[in-house]
Amino acid sequence: MKDTFNRKIEYVRISVTDRCDLRCQYCMPENGVKSIPHNDILSYEEILRIARCIAHLGVSRIKITGGEPLVRLGVTGFIGEIKKLEGIEQVTLTTNATQLADYIDKLAELKIDGINISMDTLNPELYKKITGRDSFYKAFEGFKKALEYPDIKLKINCVPMEIPEQNLPEIAGLAEDYPVHVRFIEMMPIGLGRNFPFKSEMDTMKEIERAYGPLIPYNGVLGNGPSRYYSISGFKGKIGFISAMSHKFCDFCNRVRLTADGRLKTCLQYEVGVNLKEAMRNGASDEELEALVLMALESKPKEHRFEEALVEGRETRSMFQIGG
Ligand code: 5AD
Ligand code: SF4
Repeated sequence: MKDTFNRKIEYVRISVTDRCDLRCQYCMPENGVKSIPHNDILSYEEILRIARCIAHLGVSRIKITGGEPLVRLGVTGFIGEIKKLEGIEQVTLTTNATQLADYIDKLAELKIDGINISMDTLNPELYKKITGRDSFYKAFEGFKKALEYPDIKLKINCVPMEIPEQNLPEIAGLAEDYPVHVRFIEMMPIGLGRNFPFKSEMDTMKEIERAYGPLIPYNGVLGNGPSRYYSISGFKGKIGFISAMSHKFCDFCNRVRLTADGRLKTCLQYEVGVNLKEAMRNGASDEELEALVLMALESKPKEHRFEEALVEGRETRSMFQIGG
């Protein structure tokens, strides 16, 4: 399927829950989080039905996200069903890995294609400060266990902040020691991320180069999206940068998002899209759902305007509520 700017939409991120077992400072407040009531969360059957419609319209790749997807009961069974959908060629997962050690055998058995692990620091004390939980060792254990399955493509996602002890070269070094790609994601002014001192791609790159020598641009395609990759001599994996602020990548946007409460979101920044849950629960047929998806695509904006502080219609929810 295509949007009004002739961009081919072939990738959908599906958030299965807005709940999370961590409280990353830039994402989820420690107190006063209002979870979506269970009744308003799509059932797995409902998500599968939407996924089937979207696959029918030409989407071939699905990412399961949250919140933290592994905190939702029965998620592996659901992923198995998603894997079986006709037309779906790739199913991947984004996780904070705190529970990955318990699930990785099952995920490997289901032939999950890739896993992105969020890990902002390898310093356990700082990890606790950033995430609000003392879960570094659990998350790292999840990462190490995932490495035992070479067929699962692994990526590490790190959001650089102005905190020296975050030690970005140490995180980049994971790509030296292990066959994983490490990506640095510029903080986006979404939710609590708005309040954080922003660290630019350029500053992160300089830090990495100071530690390891030049980043050599890599032209291959490694994922679904906007990351630009670099090689470092002697490294097993690549170093990637996802920089919504420094480099607008909207021209190549290939995705839409399904939130846990059933809204199809066509842009991270704007509150645009359609409420598929409401339509479905009001008895819409598959054809009607597909027509709604196509209608939502017509509202997909040309680009984000994160650089402007107060954009009309901008998203007021946080990353854990929209699935990143
Ligand atoms: N800007 C950039 N990345 C964010 N994430 C959460 N909030 C933000 C934000 N405001 C990241 C998490 C995780 C991924 C799902 O999204 O660190 O890696
Ligand atoms: Fe949870 Fe991810 Fe948000 Fe951290 S960034 S609180 S791991 S949803």
